[in-house]
Amino acid sequence: MPTHLSRRDFARLSSALGLSASAYDPIAHAASASEHAAGRNAGRGFPRDFLWGTATSAYQIEGALDADGRGPSIWDTFARSPGRIVGNANAAVANDHYHRWQSDIQMMTSLGVRTYRFSIAWPRIFPQGRGQSNAKGLDFYDRLVDELLANNISPYATLYHWDLPQALQDVGGWESRDTANAFADYAGYVAGRLCDRVKHVFTINEMSTFVELGYGQGIFAPGLKLPPKRLNQLRHNVLLGHGLAVQAIRAKAQTGTKIGLAENMTVCIPVIETGEHISAAERATREMNAGYLTAILEGAYTPAYLAWAGADAPRFSPDDMTAIASPLDFVGLNVYAPHHYIRACAGAPGFASLPLSASHPHMASRWLKVGPEALYWAPRHVASIWKVKTIYITENGCSAADVPDRDGNIDDTDRVMFLRNYLMQLQRAASEGVPVRGYFLWTLMDNFEWADGYSNRFGLHYVDFATQRRTPKLSAAFYKEVMAQNAVV
Ligand code: FCB
Repeated sequence: MPTHLSRRDFARLSSALGLSASAYDPIAHAASASEHAAGRNAGRGFPRDFLWGTATSAYQIEGALDADGRGPSIWDTFARSPGRIVGNANAAVANDHYHRWQSDIQMMTSLGVRTYRFSIAWPRIFPQGRGQSNAKGLDFYDRLVDELLANNISPYATLYHWDLPQALQDVGGWESRDTANAFADYAGYVAGRLCDRVKHVFTINEMSTFVELGYGQGIFAPGLKLPPKRLNQLRHNVLLGHGLAVQAIRAKAQTGTKIGLAENMTVCIPVIETGEHISAAERATREMNAGYLTAILEGAYTPAYLAWAGADAPRFSPDDMTAIASPLDFVGLNVYAPHHYIRACAGAPGFASLPLSASHPHMASRWLKVGPEALYWAPRHVASIWKVKTIYITENGCSAADVPDRDGNIDDTDRVMFLRNYLMQLQRAASEGVPVRGYFLWTLMDNFEWADGYSNRFGLHYVDFATQRRTPKLSAAFYKEVMAQNAVV
Protein backbone atom coordinates (compact mmCIF):
# COMPACT_ATOMS: atom_id res chain seq x y z
CA MET A 1 0.00 0.00 0.00
CA PRO A 2 1.56 3.35 -1.00
CA THR A 3 1.88 5.75 1.87
CA HIS A 4 1.34 8.82 -0.30
CA LEU A 5 -1.26 8.92 -3.05
CA SER A 6 -1.04 11.49 -5.80
CA ARG A 7 -4.27 12.78 -7.24
CA ARG A 8 -3.78 10.47 -10.21
CA ASP A 9 -3.17 7.44 -7.97
CA PHE A 10 -6.29 8.27 -6.07
CA ALA A 11 -8.38 8.46 -9.21
CA ARG A 12 -7.19 4.97 -10.15
CA LEU A 13 -7.73 3.55 -6.70
CA SER A 14 -11.04 5.28 -6.12
CA SER A 15 -12.54 4.05 -9.35
CA ALA A 16 -11.57 0.54 -8.28
CA LEU A 17 -13.41 1.23 -5.02
CA GLY A 18 -16.39 2.62 -6.88
CA LEU A 19 -15.76 6.23 -5.85
CA SER A 20 -15.78 9.02 -8.39
CA ALA A 21 -12.57 10.97 -8.76
CA SER A 22 -14.45 14.23 -8.32
CA ALA A 23 -15.36 13.20 -4.78
CA TYR A 24 -11.73 13.91 -3.97
CA ASP A 25 -11.48 17.31 -5.61
CA PRO A 26 -11.18 19.70 -2.67
CA ILE A 27 -12.65 22.75 -4.35
CA ALA A 28 -15.60 20.93 -5.91
CA HIS A 29 -16.22 19.15 -2.64
CA ALA A 30 -16.11 22.36 -0.64
CA ALA A 31 -18.53 24.09 -3.01
CA SER A 32 -21.13 21.35 -2.77
CA ALA A 33 -20.73 21.13 0.98
CA SER A 34 -21.50 24.80 1.45
CA GLU A 35 -25.15 24.10 0.68
CA HIS A 36 -25.37 22.16 3.90
CA ALA A 37 -23.34 24.66 5.84
CA ALA A 38 -25.98 26.24 7.98
CA GLY A 39 -26.83 23.13 9.93
CA ARG A 40 -23.43 21.51 9.93
CA ASN A 41 -21.55 24.53 11.21
CA ALA A 42 -23.86 25.34 14.05
CA GLY A 43 -21.68 26.59 16.86
CA ARG A 44 -18.71 27.26 14.60
CA GLY A 45 -19.89 30.50 13.02
CA PHE A 46 -18.35 33.98 13.32
CA PRO A 47 -20.22 37.26 13.90
CA ARG A 48 -22.08 38.43 10.81
CA ASP A 49 -19.82 41.40 10.03
CA PHE A 50 -16.55 39.55 10.70
CA LEU A 51 -13.80 40.58 8.24
CA TRP A 52 -11.68 38.01 6.48
CA GLY A 53 -8.48 38.89 4.68
CA THR A 54 -4.88 38.08 3.94
CA ALA A 55 -1.68 39.91 4.79
CA THR A 56 1.66 40.58 3.09
CA SER A 57 4.51 43.04 3.51
CA ALA A 58 6.30 45.16 0.92
CA TYR A 59 9.82 43.86 1.34
CA GLN A 60 8.74 40.23 1.28
CA ILE A 61 6.92 40.37 -2.07
CA GLU A 62 7.65 43.48 -4.12
CA GLY A 63 11.15 42.98 -5.51
CA ALA A 64 12.11 45.87 -7.85
CA LEU A 65 14.43 47.29 -5.22
CA ASP A 66 15.96 49.81 -7.63
CA ALA A 67 12.79 50.76 -9.45
CA ASP A 68 11.37 54.26 -9.73
CA GLY A 69 13.73 55.98 -7.35
CA ARG A 70 13.45 53.69 -4.31
CA GLY A 71 16.29 54.19 -1.85
CA PRO A 72 18.16 51.32 -0.16
CA SER A 73 16.85 49.82 3.07
CA ILE A 74 18.60 48.06 5.93
CA TRP A 75 17.41 44.70 4.59
CA ASP A 76 19.15 45.32 1.23
CA THR A 77 22.39 45.90 3.12
CA PHE A 78 21.86 42.97 5.48
CA ALA A 79 21.13 40.54 2.62
CA ARG A 80 24.38 41.53 0.90
CA SER A 81 26.37 40.42 3.91
CA PRO A 82 27.26 36.71 3.38
CA GLY A 83 25.75 34.19 5.74
CA ARG A 84 22.96 36.41 7.06
CA ILE A 85 20.14 34.89 4.99
CA VAL A 86 19.59 31.19 4.37
CA GLY A 87 21.11 30.36 0.98
CA ASN A 88 22.46 33.91 0.81
CA ALA A 89 19.13 34.76 -0.79
CA ASN A 90 17.88 38.29 -1.31
CA ALA A 91 14.64 40.08 -2.13
CA ALA A 92 15.78 41.70 -5.39
CA VAL A 93 12.97 39.91 -7.24
CA ALA A 94 11.04 38.13 -4.47
CA ASN A 95 7.48 37.72 -5.87
CA ASP A 96 7.93 40.50 -8.44
CA HIS A 97 4.72 41.91 -7.02
CA TYR A 98 5.82 45.42 -8.03
CA HIS A 99 5.07 44.34 -11.59
CA ARG A 100 2.43 41.70 -10.95
CA TRP A 101 0.20 43.56 -8.52
CA GLN A 102 -2.82 43.50 -10.80
CA SER A 103 -2.81 39.73 -11.28
CA ASP A 104 -2.11 39.33 -7.56
CA ILE A 105 -5.25 41.31 -6.81
CA GLN A 106 -7.15 39.01 -9.18
CA MET A 107 -5.77 36.09 -7.19
CA MET A 108 -7.25 37.66 -4.04
CA THR A 109 -10.55 38.12 -5.79
CA SER A 110 -10.62 34.43 -6.74
CA LEU A 111 -9.84 33.55 -3.15
CA GLY A 112 -12.75 35.67 -1.97
CA VAL A 113 -11.06 38.01 0.51
CA ARG A 114 -12.76 41.28 1.37
CA THR A 115 -9.77 42.92 3.08
CA TYR A 116 -6.06 43.03 2.39
CA ARG A 117 -3.29 44.08 4.75
CA PHE A 118 -0.15 45.22 2.93
CA SER A 119 2.73 47.48 3.86
CA ILE A 120 4.10 50.63 2.31
CA ALA A 121 7.85 50.77 1.74
CA TRP A 122 9.23 53.86 3.48
CA PRO A 123 12.31 53.92 1.16
CA ARG A 124 10.04 54.16 -1.89
CA ILE A 125 8.30 57.23 -0.48
CA PHE A 126 11.36 58.93 1.06
CA PRO A 127 14.45 57.33 -0.51
CA GLN A 128 16.66 59.06 2.08
CA GLY A 129 14.19 58.48 4.90
CA ARG A 130 13.20 62.15 5.08
CA GLY A 131 13.35 65.33 3.04
CA GLN A 132 12.58 64.97 -0.63
CA SER A 133 9.64 62.65 -1.36
CA ASN A 134 9.55 60.39 -4.40
CA ALA A 135 6.29 60.77 -6.33
CA LYS A 136 6.77 57.57 -8.31
CA GLY A 137 7.04 55.55 -5.12
CA LEU A 138 3.74 56.84 -3.87
CA ASP A 139 2.12 56.29 -7.27
CA PHE A 140 2.60 52.55 -6.89
CA TYR A 141 0.48 52.45 -3.72
CA ASP A 142 -2.00 54.93 -5.18
CA ARG A 143 -2.70 52.54 -8.05
CA LEU A 144 -2.71 49.52 -5.74
CA VAL A 145 -5.31 51.11 -3.47
CA ASP A 146 -7.53 52.11 -6.39
CA GLU A 147 -7.38 48.63 -7.88
CA LEU A 148 -8.18 47.02 -4.53
CA LEU A 149 -11.20 49.24 -4.09
CA ALA A 150 -12.32 48.56 -7.66
CA ASN A 151 -12.30 44.89 -6.68
CA ASN A 152 -14.25 45.49 -3.46
CA ILE A 153 -11.26 44.73 -1.26
CA SER A 154 -10.70 47.14 1.65
CA PRO A 155 -7.08 48.25 1.99
CA TYR A 156 -5.46 48.02 5.45
CA ALA A 157 -2.03 49.65 5.24
CA THR A 158 0.99 49.13 7.50
CA LEU A 159 3.50 51.99 7.45
CA TYR A 160 6.53 50.19 8.84
CA HIS A 161 7.16 46.53 8.24
CA TRP A 162 10.88 46.63 9.01
CA ASP A 163 12.37 48.20 5.84
CA LEU A 164 14.09 51.20 7.43
CA PRO A 165 15.77 53.49 4.87
CA GLN A 166 19.50 52.80 5.04
CA ALA A 167 20.20 56.55 5.10
CA LEU A 168 18.53 56.73 8.52
CA GLN A 169 20.43 53.72 9.83
CA ASP A 170 23.62 55.47 8.74
CA VAL A 171 22.88 58.22 11.25
CA GLY A 172 21.87 55.93 14.11
CA GLY A 173 18.60 54.38 12.96
CA TRP A 174 16.16 53.77 15.81
CA GLU A 175 18.93 54.50 18.29
CA SER A 176 18.41 58.10 17.32
CA ARG A 177 15.33 59.82 18.64
CA ASP A 178 15.25 61.71 15.39
CA THR A 179 14.19 58.55 13.56
CA ALA A 180 10.95 58.68 15.57
CA ASN A 181 10.35 62.18 14.19
CA ALA A 182 11.24 61.09 10.65
CA PHE A 183 8.81 58.19 10.94
CA ALA A 184 6.03 60.51 12.07
CA ASP A 185 6.72 62.85 9.14
CA TYR A 186 6.58 59.96 6.69
CA ALA A 187 3.40 58.61 8.32
CA GLY A 188 1.68 61.98 8.10
CA TYR A 189 2.75 62.41 4.50
CA VAL A 190 1.33 59.03 3.45
CA ALA A 191 -1.86 59.66 5.43
CA GLY A 192 -2.36 62.94 3.59
CA ARG A 193 -2.04 61.17 0.24
CA LEU A 194 -3.80 57.86 0.76
CA CYS A 195 -6.20 58.16 3.66
CA ASP A 196 -8.99 59.59 1.55
CA ARG A 197 -9.34 55.92 0.50
CA VAL A 198 -7.39 53.91 3.07
CA LYS A 199 -9.55 53.86 6.18
CA HIS A 200 -7.40 51.61 8.37
CA VAL A 201 -3.74 52.24 9.09
CA PHE A 202 -1.20 50.37 11.22
CA THR A 203 1.82 52.33 12.37
CA ILE A 204 4.39 49.59 13.03
CA ASN A 205 4.47 45.85 12.53
CA GLU A 206 5.82 43.73 15.38
CA MET A 207 8.01 46.19 17.23
CA SER A 208 9.21 43.46 19.53
CA THR A 209 10.42 41.26 16.67
CA PHE A 210 12.53 43.78 14.81
CA VAL A 211 13.87 45.37 18.00
CA GLU A 212 14.88 42.15 19.73
CA LEU A 213 16.02 40.21 16.66
CA GLY A 214 17.48 43.12 14.69
CA TYR A 215 19.17 45.12 17.43
CA GLY A 216 19.41 42.67 20.33
CA GLN A 217 20.26 39.27 18.85
CA GLY A 218 21.57 40.48 15.49
CA ILE A 219 19.75 37.87 13.42
CA PHE A 220 17.54 40.36 11.55
CA ALA A 221 18.61 43.62 9.86
CA PRO A 222 20.56 45.61 10.74
CA GLY A 223 22.28 42.72 12.54
CA LEU A 224 23.33 44.52 15.72
CA LYS A 225 23.80 43.20 19.24
CA LEU A 226 23.43 46.32 21.32
CA PRO A 227 24.22 46.35 25.02
CA PRO A 228 21.18 46.69 27.34
CA LYS A 229 21.30 50.45 27.87
CA ARG A 230 21.32 51.25 24.15
CA LEU A 231 18.75 48.56 23.39
CA ASN A 232 16.36 49.85 26.06
CA GLN A 233 16.66 53.38 24.73
CA LEU A 234 16.10 52.18 21.17
CA ARG A 235 12.99 50.29 22.28
CA HIS A 236 11.70 53.51 23.80
CA ASN A 237 12.42 55.45 20.61
CA VAL A 238 10.41 52.93 18.60
CA LEU A 239 7.43 53.35 20.95
CA LEU A 240 7.79 57.10 20.60
CA GLY A 241 7.88 56.77 16.80
CA HIS A 242 4.62 54.85 16.98
CA GLY A 243 2.97 57.47 19.20
CA LEU A 244 4.14 60.44 17.15
CA ALA A 245 2.99 58.67 13.99
CA VAL A 246 -0.49 58.17 15.47
CA GLN A 247 -0.66 61.92 16.07
CA ALA A 248 0.66 62.76 12.61
CA ILE A 249 -1.82 60.45 10.90
CA ARG A 250 -4.71 61.93 12.88
CA ALA A 251 -3.59 65.40 11.85
CA LYS A 252 -3.28 64.59 8.15
CA ALA A 253 -5.84 61.88 7.40
CA GLN A 254 -9.42 62.64 6.57
CA THR A 255 -11.87 62.00 9.36
CA GLY A 256 -12.94 58.42 9.61
CA THR A 257 -9.47 56.90 9.32
CA LYS A 258 -8.91 54.32 12.03
CA ILE A 259 -5.43 53.90 13.49
CA GLY A 260 -3.77 51.05 15.31
CA LEU A 261 -0.66 48.89 15.33
CA ALA A 262 0.12 45.23 14.65
CA GLU A 263 2.03 43.65 17.50
CA ASN A 264 3.08 40.09 18.21
CA MET A 265 2.46 40.29 21.92
CA THR A 266 4.02 37.64 24.10
CA VAL A 267 1.15 35.19 24.52
CA CYS A 268 0.64 33.70 27.96
CA ILE A 269 -1.58 30.64 28.24
CA PRO A 270 -3.00 29.60 31.63
CA VAL A 271 -1.91 25.98 32.18
CA ILE A 272 -5.38 25.03 33.31
CA GLU A 273 -8.44 27.18 32.78
CA THR A 274 -9.20 27.99 36.37
CA GLY A 275 -9.54 31.43 37.94
CA GLU A 276 -6.14 31.42 39.65
CA HIS A 277 -4.17 30.40 36.58
CA ILE A 278 -6.10 32.80 34.35
CA SER A 279 -5.32 35.70 36.72
CA ALA A 280 -1.68 34.62 36.79
CA ALA A 281 -1.60 34.56 32.98
CA GLU A 282 -3.02 38.11 32.92
CA ARG A 283 -0.34 39.32 35.33
CA ALA A 284 2.30 37.60 33.20
CA THR A 285 0.87 39.19 30.04
CA ARG A 286 1.27 42.70 31.48
CA GLU A 287 4.84 42.10 32.59
CA MET A 288 6.04 40.15 29.58
CA ASN A 289 4.80 42.89 27.25
CA ALA A 290 5.96 45.73 29.49
CA GLY A 291 8.42 47.16 26.95
CA TYR A 292 5.79 47.30 24.21
CA LEU A 293 2.03 46.83 24.37
CA THR A 294 1.70 47.49 28.10
CA ALA A 295 3.58 50.79 27.82
CA ILE A 296 1.48 51.83 24.82
CA LEU A 297 -1.88 50.90 26.33
CA GLU A 298 -1.11 52.14 29.87
CA GLY A 299 1.13 55.11 29.08
CA ALA A 300 3.74 53.94 31.59
CA TYR A 301 6.48 51.39 32.08
CA THR A 302 5.65 48.96 34.87
CA PRO A 303 7.73 49.26 38.05
CA ALA A 304 9.01 45.71 37.44
CA TYR A 305 10.22 46.67 33.95
CA LEU A 306 12.09 49.70 35.24
CA ALA A 307 13.56 47.66 38.09
CA TRP A 308 14.69 44.99 35.63
CA ALA A 309 16.39 47.63 33.46
CA GLY A 310 17.94 49.27 36.52
CA ALA A 311 20.73 51.68 35.61
CA ASP A 312 20.17 50.80 31.95
CA ALA A 313 16.57 52.05 31.95
CA PRO A 314 15.61 54.36 29.08
CA ARG A 315 15.59 58.11 29.58
CA PHE A 316 12.21 59.64 28.84
CA SER A 317 9.92 62.49 29.75
CA PRO A 318 6.27 62.45 30.82
CA ASP A 319 5.47 63.99 27.41
CA ASP A 320 7.03 60.97 25.72
CA MET A 321 4.69 58.66 27.61
CA THR A 322 1.69 60.79 26.69
CA ALA A 323 2.66 60.56 23.02
CA ILE A 324 3.29 56.82 23.28
CA ALA A 325 -0.18 56.33 24.74
CA SER A 326 -1.93 58.34 21.99
CA PRO A 327 -5.42 56.83 21.78
CA LEU A 328 -5.85 54.02 19.24
CA ASP A 329 -8.96 52.93 17.39
CA PHE A 330 -7.97 49.27 17.42
CA VAL A 331 -5.22 46.86 18.35
CA GLY A 332 -3.89 44.37 15.80
CA LEU A 333 -2.37 41.14 17.06
CA ASN A 334 -0.06 38.85 15.11
CA VAL A 335 -0.52 35.46 16.71
CA TYR A 336 1.55 32.40 15.89
CA ALA A 337 3.06 30.49 18.79
CA PRO A 338 2.06 30.17 22.43
CA HIS A 339 5.04 31.78 24.17
CA HIS A 340 4.51 30.83 27.80
CA TYR A 341 2.37 28.34 29.68
CA ILE A 342 1.69 30.10 32.96
CA ARG A 343 0.69 28.78 36.32
CA ALA A 344 -0.16 30.66 39.47
CA CYS A 345 2.31 30.57 42.30
CA ALA A 346 2.63 32.09 45.72
CA GLY A 347 4.90 35.10 46.17
CA ALA A 348 5.97 37.78 43.71
CA PRO A 349 5.38 38.06 40.81
CA GLY A 350 2.51 35.61 41.29
CA PHE A 351 3.14 33.55 38.18
CA ALA A 352 5.61 31.04 36.81
CA SER A 353 6.37 30.11 33.23
CA LEU A 354 6.66 26.40 32.62
CA PRO A 355 9.41 25.23 30.29
CA LEU A 356 8.14 23.87 26.99
CA SER A 357 8.66 20.16 26.64
CA ALA A 358 11.22 19.07 24.03
CA SER A 359 8.41 17.16 22.35
CA HIS A 360 6.16 20.20 21.95
CA PRO A 361 5.07 20.10 18.28
CA HIS A 362 6.14 22.78 15.83
CA MET A 363 5.49 23.58 12.20
CA ALA A 364 8.22 23.77 9.51
CA SER A 365 9.76 26.78 11.28
CA ARG A 366 11.15 25.54 14.57
CA TRP A 367 10.02 28.70 16.33
CA LEU A 368 6.44 28.08 15.34
CA LYS A 369 5.30 25.92 18.23
CA VAL A 370 1.74 24.75 17.80
CA GLY A 371 -0.74 26.09 20.34
CA PRO A 372 -4.16 26.87 18.89
CA GLU A 373 -5.31 28.32 22.22
CA ALA A 374 -2.94 31.26 21.62
CA LEU A 375 -5.57 32.58 19.25
CA TYR A 376 -8.10 32.54 22.07
CA TRP A 377 -5.95 33.94 24.87
CA ALA A 378 -4.19 36.73 23.00
CA PRO A 379 -7.35 38.70 22.16
CA ARG A 380 -9.05 37.72 25.40
CA HIS A 381 -6.18 39.05 27.53
CA VAL A 382 -6.03 42.30 25.54
CA ALA A 383 -9.76 42.81 25.98
CA SER A 384 -9.82 41.92 29.65
CA ILE A 385 -6.61 43.63 30.80
CA TRP A 386 -6.79 46.83 28.73
CA LYS A 387 -10.49 46.99 27.82
CA VAL A 388 -9.64 47.29 24.13
CA LYS A 389 -12.89 47.50 22.17
CA THR A 390 -11.73 46.55 18.67
CA ILE A 391 -9.18 43.85 17.96
CA TYR A 392 -7.99 42.43 14.66
CA ILE A 393 -5.87 39.35 14.24
CA THR A 394 -3.45 40.97 11.82
CA GLU A 395 -1.40 37.83 11.17
CA ASN A 396 -1.79 34.11 11.77
CA GLY A 397 -0.68 31.19 9.65
CA CYS A 398 2.18 28.73 9.39
CA SER A 399 5.07 27.40 7.41
CA ALA A 400 4.82 23.90 5.99
CA ALA A 401 7.10 21.69 3.91
CA ASP A 402 4.98 22.16 0.78
CA VAL A 403 5.99 20.10 -2.24
CA PRO A 404 3.89 19.92 -5.40
CA ASP A 405 2.91 16.38 -6.31
CA ARG A 406 3.31 14.92 -9.80
CA ASP A 407 0.22 16.79 -10.95
CA GLY A 408 1.34 20.04 -9.42
CA ASN A 409 -1.10 19.94 -6.51
CA ILE A 410 0.00 21.11 -3.08
CA ASP A 411 -2.08 19.24 -0.55
CA ASP A 412 -0.96 21.00 2.60
CA THR A 413 -3.11 19.08 5.03
CA ASP A 414 -0.85 20.09 7.92
CA ARG A 415 -1.52 23.79 7.25
CA VAL A 416 -5.26 23.08 7.06
CA MET A 417 -4.99 21.26 10.40
CA PHE A 418 -3.15 24.23 11.88
CA LEU A 419 -5.62 26.80 10.58
CA ARG A 420 -8.71 24.81 11.51
CA ASN A 421 -7.56 24.38 15.09
CA TYR A 422 -6.46 27.98 15.55
CA LEU A 423 -9.67 29.29 13.99
CA MET A 424 -11.76 27.14 16.34
CA GLN A 425 -10.12 29.01 19.21
CA LEU A 426 -10.73 32.38 17.57
CA GLN A 427 -14.36 31.41 17.06
CA ARG A 428 -14.54 30.55 20.74
CA ALA A 429 -13.25 34.02 21.62
CA ALA A 430 -15.68 35.77 19.29
CA SER A 431 -18.63 33.72 20.53
CA GLU A 432 -17.77 34.63 24.14
CA GLY A 433 -17.91 38.32 23.26
CA VAL A 434 -14.20 39.11 22.90
CA PRO A 435 -14.33 42.06 20.47
CA VAL A 436 -12.30 40.51 17.67
CA ARG A 437 -13.54 41.97 14.39
CA GLY A 438 -11.38 40.42 11.72
CA TYR A 439 -8.63 38.00 10.75
CA PHE A 440 -5.80 38.43 8.23
CA LEU A 441 -4.20 35.16 7.26
CA TRP A 442 -0.43 35.24 6.82
CA THR A 443 0.06 34.98 3.94
CA LEU A 444 -1.36 35.33 0.46
CA MET A 445 1.58 33.58 -1.21
CA ASP A 446 4.98 32.11 -0.39
CA ASN A 447 7.55 34.90 -0.20
CA PHE A 448 10.89 36.12 1.12
CA GLU A 449 10.79 35.03 4.75
CA TRP A 450 13.43 37.40 6.16
CA ALA A 451 16.53 35.60 7.47
CA ASP A 452 15.02 32.28 6.34
CA GLY A 453 15.07 33.49 2.74
CA TYR A 454 12.93 31.26 0.56
CA SER A 455 13.41 28.18 2.74
CA ASN A 456 10.12 28.57 4.59
CA ARG A 457 6.77 28.72 2.83
CA PHE A 458 3.84 30.40 4.59
CA GLY A 459 1.55 31.04 1.61
CA LEU A 460 -1.97 29.99 0.66
CA HIS A 461 -0.55 30.04 -2.87
CA TYR A 462 2.56 28.12 -3.79
CA VAL A 463 5.09 30.25 -5.68
CA ASP A 464 7.55 28.76 -8.12
CA PHE A 465 10.22 31.44 -7.81
CA ALA A 466 11.87 30.42 -11.10
CA THR A 467 8.72 31.15 -13.12
CA GLN A 468 6.72 33.31 -10.65
CA ARG A 469 3.80 30.93 -11.17
CA ARG A 470 1.31 31.00 -8.28
CA THR A 471 -0.77 27.88 -7.52
CA PRO A 472 -3.49 27.71 -4.87
CA LYS A 473 -2.78 25.09 -2.23
CA LEU A 474 -5.40 22.95 -0.54
CA SER A 475 -5.34 25.52 2.29
CA ALA A 476 -6.56 28.19 -0.17
CA ALA A 477 -9.63 26.08 -0.90
CA PHE A 478 -10.11 25.58 2.84
CA TYR A 479 -9.83 29.30 3.60
CA LYS A 480 -12.13 30.20 0.73
CA GLU A 481 -14.76 27.96 2.25
CA VAL A 482 -14.24 29.39 5.74
CA MET A 483 -14.81 32.87 4.36
CA ALA A 484 -17.81 31.84 2.27
CA GLN A 485 -19.49 30.14 5.21
CA ASN A 486 -18.20 32.61 7.83
CA ALA A 487 -17.50 29.55 9.94
CA VAL A 488 -14.80 27.02 10.71
CA VAL A 489 -15.22 24.16 8.24
C1 FCB B 1 5.81 37.70 11.34
C2 FCB B 1 6.17 38.83 10.39
C3 FCB B 1 5.87 38.49 8.95
C4 FCB B 1 6.25 37.07 8.62
C5 FCB B 1 5.63 36.12 9.60
C6 FCB B 1 5.91 34.66 9.30
O1 FCB B 1 6.59 37.83 12.48
O2 FCB B 1 5.46 39.99 10.73
O3 FCB B 1 6.52 39.43 8.14
O4 FCB B 1 7.61 36.95 8.59
O5 FCB B 1 6.09 36.42 10.89
